[in-house]
This record gives sequence, C-alpha cells and structure tokens, in this order.
Amino acid sequence: MTSPFNYYYSKVSILFLFCFPELLLSAVVTLESLEIYTTHEWITSSPTVYFLCDKENKTVLPDVKKTKTVYTFRAEESFQPLTDFTSKKCKRCGFYEEDRLKSDDVFDEWEFCPSDFKSSDGRYIRTKAKEFNATFVCHKCVDGINSDTSLDEKDNGMHWSVIIIGLSVVASTVLFIVGLVVAYKYWQKRKRQHEQARFMKLFEDTDDIEDELGIGPLSDSI
Ligand SMILES: *[C@@H]1O[C@H](CO)[C@@H](O)[C@H](O)[C@H]1NC(C)=O
Ligand SMILES: *[C@@H]1O[C@H](CO)[C@@H](O)[C@H](O)[C@H]1NC(C)=O
Repeated sequence: MTSPFNYYYSKVSILFLFCFPELLLSAVVTLESLEIYTTHEWITSSPTVYFLCDKENKTVLPDVKKTKTVYTFRAEESFQPLTDFTSKKCKRCGFYEEDRLKSDDVFDEWEFCPSDFKSSDGRYIRTKAKEFNATFVCHKCVDGINSDTSLDEKDNGMHWSVIIIGLSVVASTVLFIVGLVVAYKYWQKRKRQHEQARFMKLFEDTDDIEDELGIGPLSDSI
C-alpha cells in the first residue's frame, strides 16, 4: 500500500501550492523615470542616490546626479529590476542619498505595496513635494494581484474549485481501492467455490466408475 500513499502525498502537495498561489507569485518592479528636486549634500555637488527596501540590497542609480532633470529608464539597465513582490504584502522602501559624514539622507520612505499599481498600464507614480517624482512599473502586480474582481474573491473561487477537484480525486481513489478489494474478495470466493466443486466432482466420478463396474474398491477387483 505504499504506492497509493505516495500518489496521495504528491496530490496533497500540489493542492497545497494551488491553495496558496501567493507563494508562487513573483512580480518584478522596475523604475521608469525619476526626477529629484533637491539634494541633501551641500559639500559635494553630485549626489549618490539609491533605492532600498527593508532587508534587501541597495540599488544605486548611478545616472541620477542633477536636480530638476527627468531621468528615464528602459527597465533593462544593470540595476533593474528595483525589487519584486512575492506576496500581497507591502514592503518598507525608500529613496536615499549617501552621506559621507552622517547617516544617509532620506528623500522618502514608505510602504510600497503591489496594490499601489492600480492603473491598467502597470504604472505607479509617487511624488513627494520638493523631493522627487518617480514612476514605477509592475505589470504582474496589475494582472496577478489587482484584477477587476477583488483578489480575495478570486482566491476564494480558486480555492473552492481546487478543493472540489481535490475531493473528487480523493473520492475516486478511495472508490478505486474499495473496488479492488471487493473484486479480490469476490475472486477469492469464486476460486474457493470452484475448487470445492472440482473436489466434489472428483468424488462423484470415482463413485460412478465403481458403480459401473458393480464392485467395491477398484484395487480388489482385478
Ligand atoms: C544582496 O547582495 C549579496 C551580494 O551581492 C547577494 O549575495 C544577495 O543574494 C543579495 N540579496 C538580495 C536579497 O538580493
Ligand atoms: C511625475 O512624472 C510623471 C512621468 O514622467 C509625469 O507624468 C508627472 O506629471 C510628474 N508629476 C509631477 C508632479 O511632476
């Protein structure tokens, strides 16, 4: 009975992944444009601006040096993508400027969420007065995370269909095994009956021969 069990086990693990699709989600976020309105360093004229999400690596934006200049990117630069979302959960992210003397300066730090990408083109524009204006792109955030129906409804629909499929798989497997057992029992019974019948027939045949010869046991006669 090990193989049905293994079969079950693989079904259950596949089911598990289907029930929690957010475990599989990976939506990359790229930077499309950035304009900074100010720099925080007044000793050097060219700032080092970087983007950072909590517990991730710094993404330095090497080209962004001047204020009041719109820098546009093509999503293919070496520093792209900026980050990615693996769930609906928000991340604490921000734009910063390296500071040689004290701790780094902050343009802005905020909760960056997949649900920020509401527009159908997958864009999200974040502006902070006197600091910066940035456009992020995340197509998967729109497709996968915020479609027209609310995500929870969609998830529930999916959960139910998966549960129903799972239950029918379980039910059919159980039925199959029960069927096998019943068939085996029946076969065993038939085999026993058959053997019994043959055994009885053997006796009858012997009796018949003896009767035909009209004598007792065969051995005495000839
Ligand atoms: C951060 O950078 C280090 C070294 O470059 C790398 O090993 C690590 O995987 C990176 N972490 C993330 C979350 O990208
Ligand atoms: C911010 O940048 C976007 C894209 O470049 C632009 O459409 C928008 O008008 C800008 N917003 C401000 C306040 O400058």
